[in-house]
Amino acid sequence: MSKTAKHTWIIGASAGIGAALAQSLAKKGEVICLSARSEEGLLKVQESLSGQEHMVQPFDASDKDALARAHQQIRKEWPRIDRVIFMAGLYTPTSFGEIDLKDAEKIISVNLTSVFYLIETILPEMKMQDNTQEKGQIAICASVAGYVGLPNSQPYGASKAGLINLIESLKAEVGDVLDIKMISPGFVETRLTEKNDFDMPARISAKEAGDIIAKQLDSKKFEIHFPKRFTYVMKIISNLPYWLYFHVAQKMR
Ligand SMILES: NC(=O)c1ccc[n+]([C@@H]2O[C@H](COP(=O)([O-])OP(=O)(O)OC[C@H]3O[C@@H](n4cnc5c(N)ncnc54)[C@H](OP(=O)(O)O)[C@@H]3O)[C@@H](O)[C@H]2O)c1
Repeated sequence: MSKTAKHTWIIGASAGIGAALAQSLAKKGEVICLSARSEEGLLKVQESLSGQEHMVQPFDASDKDALARAHQQIRKEWPRIDRVIFMAGLYTPTSFGEIDLKDAEKIISVNLTSVFYLIETILPEMKMQDNTQEKGQIAICASVAGYVGLPNSQPYGASKAGLINLIESLKAEVGDVLDIKMISPGFVETRLTEKNDFDMPARISAKEAGDIIAKQLDSKKFEIHFPKRFTYVMKIISNLPYWLYFHVAQKMR
């Protein structure tokens, strides 16, 4: 097992942006552990990666014991974990009055509660890692859908807004010893956005998204947001005074 290559654990790597990110990081020589629920999906992604030393650890991120077991297994095989990237996410487009509450619980559990499980599992060890080397990194995928309450965006929007708050707190608490990054994609072509029946402005491919994230993980910035032509518009909208924001938002319904 290579001791010099960067060791990166991606949760949510069996499809979409996480799979494309794994391909991009493997091309740069990183050793990847791919996680998600579907072992079959993970093995297919593993086959597509450059390099030999990658592994798969299938588990459900909303099962805290399974997450802890996967972490222990990785620690047995790797000298250290340099990056942990949380990409797992569920999405069902719905409007109030039509929300399936079981589905809502699942979305909040996978998108938000799982991240608490992850942080509590990895943080003690990542904080203690030899800091004469580069800082360890925790990167978590939120969304522009969490910037402000959009119409027809729940419960996904609330889970991502909660996640933004969580990531900001994490950076405020441990940003001196760990590199904390927030990933905020706009629209990306994946099975997740296949569910949308509206025009998705500035949509990009999963490969483009994976390449952007892979490049910016090594930057000094806290937030990796893209495509900028869309995310800056969302940042402006989310900072409008409420009277003006709701005027704009009601036109988005
Ligand atoms: N696509 C977009 O436009 C967009 C925009 C903003 C943010 N995002 C965010 O980007 C991330 C990746 O989404 P994507 O578009 O690439 O969607 P995707 O193609 O559906 O990929 C989602 C990944 O999450 C994994 N996952 C789902 N539930 C899981 C669970 N319980 N435990 C472990 N892994 C789980 C999936 O694998 P399994 O099904 O095998 O578990 C899959 O690998 C998500 O956090 C999403 O919210 C996407």
